[in-house]
This record gives sequence, structure tokens and C-alpha cells, in this order.
Amino acid sequence: MKKVITYGTFDLLHKGHVNLLQRARDLGDYLIVAVSTDTFNALKGKAAYTPWEDRKMILEALSCVDEVIPETHWEQKIKDVKENKVDLFVMGDDWSGEFDFLREYCEVVYIPRTVGVSTTKIKKDLKITQLIS
Ligand code: CTP
Repeated sequence: MKKVITYGTFDLLHKGHVNLLQRARDLGDYLIVAVSTDTFNALKGKAAYTPWEDRKMILEALSCVDEVIPETHWEQKIKDVKENKVDLFVMGDDWSGEFDFLREYCEVVYIPRTVGVSTTKIKKDLKITQLIS
């Protein structure tokens, strides 16, 4: 069985996230999604609208997601890959090259991002809509 892992916040789940997750799952047989916790996001200077427990619940409802684990710090990836016997690490190509150090432990693939959508854009668009109405 080929195990795949990916990381992200996945706030306000959108088409770009689902494309990434489906493509990642299609590259193997079992997909683990490591989801940034609210505390980790705060450390990164980000704030998700949806709490971690809810983001986890939403992702677990997708047929392409087999397991959700917490991402609590930058340095956990090697440990996650080893402990979960991961064969393939997948990220969107906005992270191209950033995780090449994992090639020592598993295959690494960067998938092209879906153009025109992001959580940041959704948040921005909703703010504009609020101002108009
Ligand atoms: N992703 C993607 N296509 C998009 C948006 C995100 O493939 N249009 C991928 C990212 O490359 C990453 C994963 O989805 O591998 C999770 O990204 P995340 O940062 O949670 O989503 P964004 O929409 O990029 O959020 P933000 O705008 O807050 O950075």
C-alpha cells in the first residue's frame, strides 16, 4: 500500500484544496492530511476562521482523505514520514523546492496549484461584499 502525506491549513475548504487532495490520493492508496493547528497558525502569524476540530471533521468527510493528524510545528515532517511509513510527500507548487530535504526519506512531488482561488482571496472577497451590502 502506497501512503501519501500532505500538509496545510485547509481553512474555508475550496476547489483548490479538493483538487490538491484528490490528486494526492490518486498518486497512492492512503492519504494522510496533516492540518495546521490553531496554535501553530498563531505562531505563523495566521488565523484560520474555522477551528482545527471543524477543519479536521470537514476533511475527514471527503472520500479522498483517509486520516487527519495535527501539524503543530515545522520540524515534525521527518518524524511523521518515518512513523507513518509514508512513501510520498505532496504539496502545492507554491512550496516548490521547500521540502526537498525529505527526498532522503520518501518521494516528494509538488502539484500545480489551482489558479484563481485561495483562502486569502475568499476572505478578501467576503470583506468587499460586506462593505457593499
Ligand atoms: N492549494 C492549491 N491550489 C490553491 C490553493 C491551495 O493546490 N488554489 C494547495 C496548497 O498548495 C497546499 C494546500 O492546498 O498544498 C493547502 O493550502 P492552504 O495554504 O491551506 O490553502 P490556501 O488557499 O493557499 O490558503 P492561504 O490563502 O491562507 O495561503
